[in-house]
Amino acid sequence: MTTAQQLLKKIEDNTEVVGIIGLGYVGLPLAVSFAEAGVKTLGFDKNPAKVEKINHGDNYIQDIRDAVLREVVDKVAFSATTDFSRMAECDALIIAVPTPLDRFKKPDMRYIESACTDIGRYMKPGTFICLESTTYPTTTEDFMLPIIGENIKTNPHFNDISASDSKATPKNIAPRFFLAYSPERVDPGNPSFHTRNTPKVLGAMTPEGLEIGTKLYAKAIDTIHPVSSPRVAEMVKILENTYRLINISLINELALLAGKMDINIWEVIEAAKTKPFGFQAFYPGPGIGGHCIPLDPFYLEHIAKKYNFDLSMIHTAGHINMRMPHYMYIKIATALNRHKKAVNGSTVLFLGVAYKPNINDERESPALEIMEIVAHKGGKVQYHDPHIPTVQTHGQGALTSIPLTAETLGQADVVVLTTNHSAFEVEFIQKHAKMIVDMRNMIKEAGDKVYKL
Ligand SMILES: NC(=O)c1ccc[n+]([C@@H]2O[C@H](COP(=O)([O-])OP(=O)(O)OC[C@H]3O[C@@H](n4cnc5c(N)ncnc54)[C@H](O)[C@@H]3O)[C@@H](O)[C@H]2O)c1
Repeated sequence: MTTAQQLLKKIEDNTEVVGIIGLGYVGLPLAVSFAEAGVKTLGFDKNPAKVEKINHGDNYIQDIRDAVLREVVDKVAFSATTDFSRMAECDALIIAVPTPLDRFKKPDMRYIESACTDIGRYMKPGTFICLESTTYPTTTEDFMLPIIGENIKTNPHFNDISASDSKATPKNIAPRFFLAYSPERVDPGNPSFHTRNTPKVLGAMTPEGLEIGTKLYAKAIDTIHPVSSPRVAEMVKILENTYRLINISLINELALLAGKMDINIWEVIEAAKTKPFGFQAFYPGPGIGGHCIPLDPFYLEHIAKKYNFDLSMIHTAGHINMRMPHYMYIKIATALNRHKKAVNGSTVLFLGVAYKPNINDERESPALEIMEIVAHKGGKVQYHDPHIPTVQTHGQGALTSIPLTAETLGQADVVVLTTNHSAFEVEFIQKHAKMIVDMRNMIKEAGDKVYKL
């Protein structure tokens, strides 16, 4: 039997062990999905606190039901570790580590590099390796493979390859394992689509890798869509997120113009939506947020530069969105001005710091940026978010969510609706706030004291 056939047989017999590297918003739900399907799953994370929580059955991700995590941990289908040498126990290793930007807005590949270093050092031959983190096209073949290859030289399971082996080139070592890319498309907080029922795109370096990946993922995910290579799969994710970026930018730009022209952009969108073909509604807001959409264009730009290619449309879209928090500050200042008040010295209460409704993730949230600007201009910033008890800000350090009561609403000079959490009772807010800036169209009938985007 070939190595590929051996692994396929294990998958068929349900005796394979799947390792998930990075147990965050993406990795933990995926691990639970495999474990629920009866696959023995081992989670790896550098953060000991997360590992300990999982092994106690304590959930920290909103999209997972506590009882489900506890059940898979109790059944010992799933456990977690910080001991990366245990990668040798795994037949498949799936990577879901962060891909942020560095301070120069360049891809910060340290986490993928670190995961690949550990994989190279510890995996056994014939392992299926799949990256799920969002990244630029060519990462799997041109970035990951050489790192894994370099570290394999110190791996005792590959003792036929020595440190000085000139044959240990990426091309030569690639057949010793199965390398693939499959973008994570999870939409946190989405009540209809979760890990299992969101179709999965998969591209592998070899036909054997694609077959193994398809059969393995089919246990945890209902629909697999194979593509011809990792770089196609990498580009799929970038296309999906760039499509959203450009459309959100377009509607934000039109919203700003509509505001000047006294046209209600929300009414325009509702009317445009009646067209049964060729139009998909996107909604304006204070800007883009989250781990993906604000970051991905920079990943694409990084690789486009290597090909001497200028992404002018994506650039423009990025610029529009980058300016949105500043425009939102102007909305707040204008609203206060109408009431003969200055931002300096006013109390501004923000409702929602999460970047989108009903989730506890404030990464890259435009609300935080607007809060920074208001504080910088002398405003007294407060916030309430039912999902986020504290936030770290640049200028003001840690802030704590204040309770949402008639008193807290009434003492603020202006209340700003930054996130449309369904927990917010609009009537209650409208009744007790002195003035409201609504950036999410939560208040349908604006009265005297409501200013809309
Ligand atoms: N969150 C989303 O909605 C979402 C959606 C689609 C794609 N993605 C992409 O998925 C990837 C992961 O995102 P996330 O939101 O799950 O991040 P996260 O920060 O929630 O989780 C990442 C985890 O990886 C761990 N980690 C970091 N370096 C590690 C290493 N070398 N070895 C093992 N563990 C390590 C961290 O401790 C953390 O627990 C990113 O590339 C992101 O762009 C995220």
